[in-house]
Amino acid sequence: MRFSNSHLAEKSHHKHRSQRERWVWSGPLLWSLLGISAIVSFFFFSLRSPNPSLLLRPNLPALQSIHDPTPPKEKQRCNLFKGHWIKQAGGAGMYTNWSCPTIPESKNCFKQGRKDTDFVNWRWKPDECELPRFDSMAFLHLLRGKKLAFIGDSVARNQFESLLCFLSQVETPQDVYKDSEDRFRTWYFPKSDLTLIMLWTKFLVAGEERVVNGTGTGVFDLQFNEIDKSWTQHLPEIDYAILSNGHWFFRVLYLHEGNNIPNCIYCSDPNITSHNPDFALRMVFRAAFKYINDCKNCGKLVTFVRTFSPAHFENGVWNTGGYCNRTGPSSAKVIDQESFDWKLRDIQIEETAKAKLEGMGKGKRFEVIDVTMAMTMRADGHPGEFWGNKWMKGYNDCVHWCMPGPIDAWNELLMAVIRKEEAAMDS
Ligand SMILES: *[C@@H]1O[C@H](CO)[C@@H](O)[C@H](O)[C@H]1NC(C)=O
Ligand SMILES: *[C@@H]1O[C@H](CO)[C@@H](O)[C@H](O)[C@H]1NC(C)=O
Ligand SMILES: *[C@@H]1O[C@H](CO)[C@@H](O)[C@H](O)[C@H]1NC(C)=O
Ligand SMILES: *[C@@H]1O[C@H](CO)[C@@H](O)[C@H](O)[C@H]1NC(C)=O
Repeated sequence: MRFSNSHLAEKSHHKHRSQRERWVWSGPLLWSLLGISAIVSFFFFSLRSPNPSLLLRPNLPALQSIHDPTPPKEKQRCNLFKGHWIKQAGGAGMYTNWSCPTIPESKNCFKQGRKDTDFVNWRWKPDECELPRFDSMAFLHLLRGKKLAFIGDSVARNQFESLLCFLSQVETPQDVYKDSEDRFRTWYFPKSDLTLIMLWTKFLVAGEERVVNGTGTGVFDLQFNEIDKSWTQHLPEIDYAILSNGHWFFRVLYLHEGNNIPNCIYCSDPNITSHNPDFALRMVFRAAFKYINDCKNCGKLVTFVRTFSPAHFENGVWNTGGYCNRTGPSSAKVIDQESFDWKLRDIQIEETAKAKLEGMGKGKRFEVIDVTMAMTMRADGHPGEFWGNKWMKGYNDCVHWCMPGPIDAWNELLMAVIRKEEAAMDS
């Protein structure tokens, strides 16, 4: 998808309006705020329908070759991220809303009234191999004594919650930390000595909202010379970092690097160059990876980058009645490699590959958990209207994911890549 300047101007205009509305009606609800902010960000990019001329062709080299740089031998290995969904009762099948008490209300879709249940009966199937089932016992055993941190926005949190459900089926975790806004969480599995941490960050780098007359404007200043300390201060204790982001970049942002003239996203200042959100996303991941690679006391940190997770509003957007009420997955035909979602994914993969090369001499490891293809096919996996927010009836959440649901596959993929890393470390 290409944007003309007039497109951008128009989008920018809508953006301002939508944000003003947001502050009016979402003020008192912290949790929904996270959700809505994420929904807001998809405002522009969800109206399109797949362009049939740009379908993913089978065995297109892009997906295979992007996962550089790996030794030639590894290239033969199966690409876990290219595949399809197959019907399987119970899907990943590890927990239900009865067996996992920590499912957040807003993701407990059945409790919130969702009636169709077929969407849980699918499993991700890589084209060339099997994705092993998540094995909670083995996971706890493999990661004994380790600390795992999810770093990112409320979709990162969604994966963290799913993993917590998986693991709590075999060992009861202790809720050891929760900040006042419930953005930072720590759970500890005492028998396995495993710590799960959620570190919340909108932009990965430092970002400050512009406030006018005491009211947030929804416009942020990002400082690329300063990485968000809310997560970096914890890095030295972490063994595995699962980094993601993207939903907060679809808004007016000013990008500062030292004393240079800033760049911006969606701004209309005469002397400032305005870019699309992918520009900021690339800068942000580059800066975060540089920080990680330069971190002297971060030990043998392994960083996984979970790629962009698409939203699925249909016939409108989050605040114009857009909805997502499908009841089953789509085929790979919906993958549009020219889409903006795909572009964000490509950027994350490209930057991870560069960081991986750079990190080789520094004892840092980087891998991708590429969920974009799998999740693009799962318009049926979102809470939609069943996210339990009675103040916002009529607004649908087509950004986050029901639990249980297709997001559980992310943790099956996580386990697969962790197994590979642990094997590499032992050898
Ligand atoms: C689980 O979902 C059912 C609907 O399928 C709902 O009636 C019940 O309240 C939910 N239970 C919990 C503990 O969330
Ligand atoms: C801020 O408040 C003052 C006084 O109420 C008002 O005159 C001014 O226009 C406001 N500024 C903005 C940008 O809204
Ligand atoms: C933009 O740049 C021109 C030329 O350097 C300068 O005269 C003008 O004041 C600048 N405008 C703003 C809004 O900074
Ligand atoms: C989805 O919602 C739209 C609009 O409310 C409705 O027309 C359509 O029938 C619904 N589809 C399903 C599968 O429920």
